[in-house]
Amino acid sequence: MIPQSFIQDLLARVDIVDVIERYLPLKKGGVNYFACCPFHSEKSASFSVSPSKQFYHCFGCGAHGSAIGFLMQYSGLTYVEAIRELAQEAGVQVPDDGRNTRQPDDSYDRLIEIMSTAAKFYRETLEHSPAAGTYLRKRGLSPEIAARFGIGFAPDAQTSLQRVFPDYRDKLLNTTGLVIDNDQGRRYDRFRNRIIFPIHDRRGRIIAFGGRILDSGEPKYLNSPETPLFEKGRELYGFSLAQKAIRAAGFVLVVEGYMDVVALAQFGMENAVATLGTATTPHHIQTLLRQTDRVVFCFDGDDAGRLAAWRALENALGALRDDVTLAFLFLPSGHDPDTFIREKGLEAMRNAAAHATPLATFLLDALSQRCDITSAEGRARLIFEAKPLITRIPEAAAILRLQLIKAIAGTSRLTQTEVEQALGIQPAPRANAFPAHSASKTAYDSQKPPFTRRPPPSPASTLLRLVLQHPALTARLPVNLIPDDTDEGRTLIAITDLAESGESVISLGALSERFRGTPHGETLDRIAIGLIDTEFDPAAVEPLFEDTLLKLQTNIIAREIAELEKQARTGTLSLTERGRLADLLKEKHGTSLYKKPDL
Ligand code: UTP
Ligand code: MN
Repeated sequence: MIPQSFIQDLLARVDIVDVIERYLPLKKGGVNYFACCPFHSEKSASFSVSPSKQFYHCFGCGAHGSAIGFLMQYSGLTYVEAIRELAQEAGVQVPDDGRNTRQPDDSYDRLIEIMSTAAKFYRETLEHSPAAGTYLRKRGLSPEIAARFGIGFAPDAQTSLQRVFPDYRDKLLNTTGLVIDNDQGRRYDRFRNRIIFPIHDRRGRIIAFGGRILDSGEPKYLNSPETPLFEKGRELYGFSLAQKAIRAAGFVLVVEGYMDVVALAQFGMENAVATLGTATTPHHIQTLLRQTDRVVFCFDGDDAGRLAAWRALENALGALRDDVTLAFLFLPSGHDPDTFIREKGLEAMRNAAAHATPLATFLLDALSQRCDITSAEGRARLIFEAKPLITRIPEAAAILRLQLIKAIAGTSRLTQTEVEQALGIQPAPRANAFPAHSASKTAYDSQKPPFTRRPPPSPASTLLRLVLQHPALTARLPVNLIPDDTDEGRTLIAITDLAESGESVISLGALSERFRGTPHGETLDRIAIGLIDTEFDPAAVEPLFEDTLLKLQTNIIAREIAELEKQARTGTLSLTERGRLADLLKEKHGTSLYKKPDL
């Protein structure tokens, strides 16, 4: 048996969007991703994947489930096989369940092994290379920090790797990108006469290298090519080493260079990572937001830095949520984080990160600077330029979007409604208490006839839906108040029990997996399907939650009162029951939703 805690940890670690994306091309639409359903033939994209709920559902054929469920359904794997597959992709070891399944000649493992052998060779070479040692000293790197990052040196020779790979013609050596085969069929080392920075995946396995030339030469940095192990747009330099510090500091600093990450760590700022010679991708941002709710992008203060920051901003918009902060730090011109922290010290760097410019401010400032807002034409242009940016902000950041719209309205001297019309977006949603009723075909087609009345959902059902979207609310559920006379109520109680026994409630998908094969699992799946393309207006969550708790309490009191009053009519009320009824009537008054404020 694979322990449930392992499965839950695994599901917390992986993103269903990443998992499904390996098999299907997904397209973003609103908060979700869409594709043509792989489980039935269709021309329109009915298959939807929710990153916030970690759940997929096809409106056409009804297929649905978690990341594990997808692998089972898509690849025809058994439950255990799907977990193993997922664990392998996430780079975690499935606890031993008595079966020895690790195949040593598994080609992925072989590639990792090759990288680690090469890294060891580069590290050892550094120790015997005076020139490289001198260079690192000149750059101010301590031997301790060089060791911590596993920094090495590739000698200035054509085929030095032959020393550790006797079978230098091995095809896999080329697959790792460590060697290059030229047109004449001759093979030589990719990295020569360079300081080597190993690039680790999230689990700390070496998947690529970056090599810096000693002193000057072109290119300054040479990186591994994209390989089965390494996809630049997904990886961040220093991430595996920084994870703990990121959680401790409450934020992550994203910088541009290897040297920056290393220098920052040497001076005590260990929560920094670097992109690998690419712009920050939405993937990077999503990865980071799974670790922390504050991301500070750090750029040099020059024009190139501003431009890179703008590209990061554009890529970040889709990942925005009202509960995260993205900010931009521009260093004084002529500085990068490496030189800044060496010259000004840790406190100055921390201080600068704490006072980084919030994304919204940067966005508005940059737009206003580009357009001459003193003229009507310039203000029109502002709106024109803002449009593709604002429309990219998802529903999960509805409040931030609204603030931006208001700010743009102020600058452009229009009303909020006029700006919304000009941007061609729906007016900001009102505090819509129960959007789940618009259970719709797809996010693009969410209109329902306006007058289909349904009975209002029971408090337990509302609470369950709220908890499924905001698992943190679980901790605040009053378990003794929840009636167990409906499926929703019973499932809610089961979730509360889970949380009380110390298990963390991460996402809808993970919960559905936790209760797989039980009646609760069925209830969760049924509700998940209705919720897949809806998000509560974040501003409405707290009032709705409070309101529903109150309603729950009121209902319970009302039910007991009705019961006692019925008894009273038949004359079978005992003295204590009569007292209880009086108390209840008082309490009903006291907790009434319509209670007048005490003046
Ligand atoms: P920089 O040119 O800003 O270098 O490139 P740096 O990090 O300050 O390096 P030092 O201090 O001169 O040693 C920033 C990052 O851009 C990528 C690398 O990831 C580098 O760390 N880059 C740069 C390349 O991939 N190739 C290059 O030729 C240059
Ligand atoms: Mn530098």
